[in-house]
Amino acid sequence: MATPEHAVDVINERFGRHPSTRALHAKGTVCRGTFTPTAAAAGLTRARVMQHEPVDAVVRFSNGGGNPEDPDWAPDVRGLAVKLYAPDGHLDISAQNAPRFPNRTVDSFLEMLEATAPGPAALWRMPLFLARHPGAAAKLPGNLKAVRPPASYATLRYYAVHAFGWIAPDGQRRWVRYRWRPEAGQQTLGLRSARARGKDYLRDELVERLQREPIRFTLEVQIARDGDPTDDPAAAWPDDREVVDAGTLEVTGLDDSRERDGDVLVFDPTRVVDGIELSDDPVLRFRTHAYSVSIERRSGVERGAEAPDAS
Ligand code: HEM
Repeated sequence: MATPEHAVDVINERFGRHPSTRALHAKGTVCRGTFTPTAAAAGLTRARVMQHEPVDAVVRFSNGGGNPEDPDWAPDVRGLAVKLYAPDGHLDISAQNAPRFPNRTVDSFLEMLEATAPGPAALWRMPLFLARHPGAAAKLPGNLKAVRPPASYATLRYYAVHAFGWIAPDGQRRWVRYRWRPEAGQQTLGLRSARARGKDYLRDELVERLQREPIRFTLEVQIARDGDPTDDPAAAWPDDREVVDAGTLEVTGLDDSRERDGDVLVFDPTRVVDGIELSDDPVLRFRTHAYSVSIERRSGVERGAEAPDAS
């Protein structure tokens, strides 16, 4: 498997190096809000963050690419990263609007990035990649849908794709996957009308919308049955699996106080709290190391016990 340094090199090669910027999801907007869990969530996990009381949240909406100058109307996946300030730590939920990760392994993700690089070689690189990875080809239609310009960051469903173990108060463990359902419904735009709205229309729309009203998402957890894969972010679970509403995220305003004066904001999908466990998904396990490389390159902060301020 690639090293985390090599992975971020490949990403930088594909999107360019941009100082003080995330290697991926470079263009984004930080907001504040609250999360209120449901009673059903408390029945499924003993995690203190899911026990009835609202907690503070920080939220970052983003475009998936690594170039912060790309216009919002360019085809891209969008990200919703959420940090819940639990009484006993932070729970980070990092999601994108593509229902499944297109790749089963880190190496095929990196190959895909190389294959989608613009330029004359694109003509042969992408077909070659798809021939080598027929699984990724099967997911192409769904993923092409996910890169359509949205009407708003508030009008997309977001999927965290990896499985997490929720430990119930009686000790029973269930494997779940998170999804965010937008209260505003789903809405995308045609390319021409997105272009007409301008380069930064998604941030502009977010500012306007938040002046009018909060943005709400429901956290859905899809519960696996025995035998459903918990280590493959590219494999769907059957649609008939139980889905439980676990809480409501209310985004109330922009938070321009973050990411300045040495504040390093990190959303790490492996950051969980007591009552929630990581699965063995190798992509999930790899992400934390790749993020550390990106964080060090963008902020100079080395993560680990010595740098607990990277939050
Ligand atoms: C091999 C797989 C992956 C690699 C190598 C990778 C790499 C990265 C890197 C380097 C960053 C920048 C981190 C930082 O500087 O803070 C990032 C950000 C992000 N990634 Fe991934 N990623 C992977 C898979 C995924 C998946 C499966 C999802 C969602 C389902 C995802 C969602 C996000 C989001 C939302 C952000 C932005 C977080 C923020 O706003 O700070 N990534 N990714």
